[in-house]
Formats: sequence, C-alpha cells, structure tokens
Amino acid sequence: MKKDKLFAEQVFEGELENEVIRNNMTIDYYYGHSSILEKFTEINLEFKPHLNYLFKQTKEDIYKLVQNAKSCSALIVTLMLTGKCNADCGICYTDRKSKNNELKLHEIKSVIDQAYELGVRTLYIPGEGEPTLDNSFWDILDYVKDKRMKIIVFTNGLLFSNDDESHRYWGISCEEAVKRLKKYPIYIYFKLWSLKPDLISTMMGINSAKYNYTNYYNWNIPYGLKLMLETLSLDKIGIEVIIEKRNLEEVVQNIIPFVQKSGVKSYMEPLIHSGRCFNQYDFDPIINNEQRLLLESWLQRSRCKRVGYMISIHNSGYLSVCMAISPKKISKEGLLSTLNLRSNGNIINELFEMLHLNEEIVKGRYKINSCICEDFNTSKKMFLSELV
Ligand SMILES: C[S@@+](CC[C@H](N)C(=O)[O-])C[C@H]1O[C@@H](n2cnc3c(N)ncnc32)[C@H](O)[C@@H]1O
Ligand code: SF4
Repeated sequence: MKKDKLFAEQVFEGELENEVIRNNMTIDYYYGHSSILEKFTEINLEFKPHLNYLFKQTKEDIYKLVQNAKSCSALIVTLMLTGKCNADCGICYTDRKSKNNELKLHEIKSVIDQAYELGVRTLYIPGEGEPTLDNSFWDILDYVKDKRMKIIVFTNGLLFSNDDESHRYWGISCEEAVKRLKKYPIYIYFKLWSLKPDLISTMMGINSAKYNYTNYYNWNIPYGLKLMLETLSLDKIGIEVIIEKRNLEEVVQNIIPFVQKSGVKSYMEPLIHSGRCFNQYDFDPIINNEQRLLLESWLQRSRCKRVGYMISIHNSGYLSVCMAISPKKISKEGLLSTLNLRSNGNIINELFEMLHLNEEIVKGRYKINSCICEDFNTSKKMFLSELV
C-alpha cells in the first residue's frame, strides 16, 4: 500500500498491524487452525517465533492469551451497504443490484458494536453499489459519531453534485448535504476517473451533465467535489481512480497533477477482474515504462496486508474474506450458512466466533502477500477453498 496517499484513519503502524496478526494467530491456534498457521509462517518468517511460543503454552495459558488478544484482533471493518446504484460503470466489480436481504440499520449497528469490541475504530465503506443511496446512510454517520469512531466512504458523488437528486433522496440541496457532512467524522473518496465529461459518460454509463461540472482553479471537476473542497477540511477529502485503458493517459496528465496541486488524498487502483469485469480483460491498460515508473508510487493494493486485520461483511449479511470475493464463492462444502450473520431472522450472530471458526475465512486472513481479491478472481477457480 502507498500509505502516504491514503487517509490516516485507514493506515496503521507496521508494528500494530503485526501485533493484531499475532493476536489472530493466538486465537486461530486456540480454535485448532495450527496447520494453516504453520503454512503461513513458512512464508512469513517474522511470525514464526510467535507460533513457536504458542506451541509451548498449556491449554489454560492459551485460553488466557485469547482473552487478551480478542480486544485487539481487528483494526478496520469493511462493510458493503446497498447494492443499488445510480450509475452503470462497465468495469464495476459488483452486480450493482439491490438485494432484498440487505443489512438493516439495527443489524449494521450490531456489527459496528461487535467490531468495536474487537478493537475496530474505523468503519470502511467501499460500497457494493452507491453507499449514499442506502436508507441508513445518515443514521450510520450518527452512530459512528456517537461511538467516536471514524468512517471512510467511497462515493460516485452524484448525490452531492445534483440538486434534483439530493432533494429527491434527502430533501436537501447538495450544498446543505455537504455542510451536513461537516459535523461527522467522515472521510470521503470521491470518484474522479476523468475530468472529461464525455469520457465520464462512457465509463460510467450516465449523462455526465448530472455532475454539473464546474471550474475550480482551472480544473473542471464535479460540483459535489468542489463543494467538498470548499466546505470540508482537506484531510477528509480524497479521490478514487481506477486506472484502465480509457483513462490511463488522463490520469497521468491531469488527475495526478490535480491531486498534487489540490492536496487531496487518493486511492488509485488497478482493475479487479470481478463482477462485470470477471474474465474481461478488454479494459486493461497497456502501460509504457515511463507511465509505469510514475504509477508505481500511486497504485494501491499490491501486498495488501489488510486481510490480516480486517473484517469484511457483504450487504447480504454474510462474512467474507475481502470485498470483491462473494461469500457464495468461499467454499463448495455447503458452509455458506456458517458465514451468515443472521440466524432466526434478524439476530446477529457472534461475530468473533464466526471469524475464527470458518476455515476459509481463517485461511484468507493469512494471505497478506498479494491482493487476494484479484488472485482469486483471475485464478479460474470456482471457490476460494480451491485456491492453494
Ligand atoms: C463498487 S464501488 C462502490 C462505491 C461507489 N459507487 C463508487 O463507485 O465510488 C467501490 C469502489 O470500487 C471501485 N471499483 C469498481 N469496480 C472495480 C473494479 N473492477 N476494479 C477495481 N475497483 C473497482 C470503484 O471505483 C469504487 O472506488
Ligand atoms: S463503480 Fe460505483 S458508481 Fe460505478 S456502477 Fe459500480 S457501484 Fe456504481
């Protein structure tokens, strides 16, 4: 990860990351996953001493260690909100459909509460669709604020750019909505794939007029982004860019200079070949050496250690290993029900146990050397359990 480009709220000191990974090793050892841990430490030698230490403990000692490790066993919870979306991006890694079993506010609150007990102070909402369309959006902000946590949200920004739409959904103008954001501990990655309205229309399958492009120090940017730049503190604004064939040149020529001049954070990422992009390589960019050299310092997601300390929950109420891996793809052994946070209707299950009982979730936690989302989706395997 290029940590200097990201919000500080999602960046953790290396020693803290390792401590949480060691805590998870302790818990997973207690739950009987020692063979997974042995494989993990064969590749990641720095964790071997901890496993050797666990081997030497009595059952009673391990139990005591688990009680201590539990409250520092996760740093961030990735929660997908509604699948509904008001855009139609051809490369989207989700199916952008709303489901009838999407998490409700009281269930989301329970997830947040349980994650908090495990050490999480940052709620990360990449979105399965457009999170600002979720009926619970503002209530979640209230809840997170009350708990003194931080929230990071990815948005296409349309609702903050178009007064008709913001009135329709929220009954307020874009300006009022952005002002309202100011009172929350929210950090926003605003989609900025291009500064060219025509290209945005093509890439996002929308009428780009919805963004009300406007001038900001000679940059042509969506109205909502301009409002944020004028209203929110700079350390809470970022842009998100997927680099693909159609916007590669523009990212190099315009988007990176915009980030440098404006001082916003940036999440620049390569394509994940999942969802609509599954088995679809037509949009992959051909990057020349000069571009590669520049992009190397901007692109996120190589050696993604986050799985080691992250909890990932999809909008259907199922646990997963990471955001672009559907819970249905975890295992063919009929274990899907063991990933369901709900039982008997709407009761939320004990998250801690679920995180450490399911073998595939446990295996996924130790894939800290690459991007498991991309690895799995390009592996041609039907199930994550088939990925060695
Ligand atoms: C699914 S979107 C949901 C949030 C919001 N609708 C948006 O687009 O910003 C979450 C993030 O994943 C990114 N994304 C979508 N499809 C992707 C793909 N195939 N590869 C990598 N990132 C992708 C989006 O650009 C966005 O930053
Ligand atoms: S990337 Fe975001 S805005 Fe685009 S279709 Fe997917 S969910 Fe919607």
